[in-house]
Amino acid sequence: MRILVAGATGVVGRPLVGTLRARGHEVSALVREESRAPDADRVVVADALDREAVLSAVSAARPEVVVHQLSALRLLRDDPPEAFARTARLRTEGTAHLVEAARAAGARRLVAQSIAFAAAPAGPAVLDEDAPLYADAPDPGWAATVRAVAELERLTLSGDDLGGLVLRYGTLYGPGTAYARDGGTGQRVLAGKLPLPEGGAGITSFLHVEDAVGAAVAAVESAATGVLHLADDEPAPAAQWLPQYARALGAPPPRTIPAAMAPRLLGWFMAHQLTAARGAAADRARAALGWKPLRPSWRDGLGQE
Ligand SMILES: NC(=O)c1ccc[n+]([C@@H]2O[C@H](COP(=O)([O-])OP(=O)(O)OC[C@H]3O[C@@H](n4cnc5c(N)ncnc54)[C@H](OP(=O)(O)O)[C@@H]3O)[C@@H](O)[C@H]2O)c1
Repeated sequence: MRILVAGATGVVGRPLVGTLRARGHEVSALVREESRAPDADRVVVADALDREAVLSAVSAARPEVVVHQLSALRLLRDDPPEAFARTARLRTEGTAHLVEAARAAGARRLVAQSIAFAAAPAGPAVLDEDAPLYADAPDPGWAATVRAVAELERLTLSGDDLGGLVLRYGTLYGPGTAYARDGGTGQRVLAGKLPLPEGGAGITSFLHVEDAVGAAVAAVESAATGVLHLADDEPAPAAQWLPQYARALGAPPPRTIPAAMAPRLLGWFMAHQLTAARGAAADRARAALGWKPLRPSWRDGLGQE
């Protein structure tokens, strides 16, 4: 198939281009800077926020399938407000440009990256894809992020002519991610600066980056549409994963803090993740894509790379 990958220099995008090519697909890489492009059958250059540039790049690639792996979350370490603001624009404007360009180029399918941890923290500990999103989160920054995620999903699923599939990835770990030893969260834990709020009841569903790539390949090659969670088989409360992650990194054990202090000490989102977040059930992806994680448990790798 002719496939265009937007975000082809990213943590997921770069290995995805290589894997799709190894499987015999003809892959175009959409990048901002040609010099950073991965090996691809074709490189097209566009800033995703520039509508004309996206229309022209996608039309040159004539893809049958468009894959959207755009984010600006790499900026999180240096400038979190800018990382979230820019990622929100990529999810809204960037997705709108890709959808319009995909249609204009005659693509028949769009696969877009979303997140599996945007659900409102209500009901069971592990939620499926139908759970409401946390668009009214008390933190304005997170509420804006969730609304942008909802818009990405709405745009991706708009219209039957372009079969849309949303891949809601769990919390990514592995090389190049925030949870790698040299990533933002890894460094924070190594420095003893990620304490555990008392109880540590927030649930995280992890996904190794290789499994994110595998899921994206399965998604491209399937005819599935709709919204799917992609996560490992072991949603875990912070009280379990954070101490084990610290041990695997060789970091000091996380100290315990009163839960009420967590938002002030950790920031709203991390406090939410560690105290209240729900996990993501990924059974539908197993059935719809015939996919299963090669790393069924975060226990076998989190903190080891
Ligand atoms: N589910 C999750 O846990 C989750 C989800 C997303 C991200 N993350 C975290 O965020 C970090 C990055 O992961 P990621 O794969 O999303 O992001 P990434 O590795 O930074 O990849 C994002 C891609 O989007 C591209 N991009 C950004 N702005 C663009 C623009 N205006 N026009 C065109 N392309 C643009 C980047 O290109 P350039 O190389 O030109 O910047 C890059 O190819 C990791 O630490 C990961 O753990 C986590």
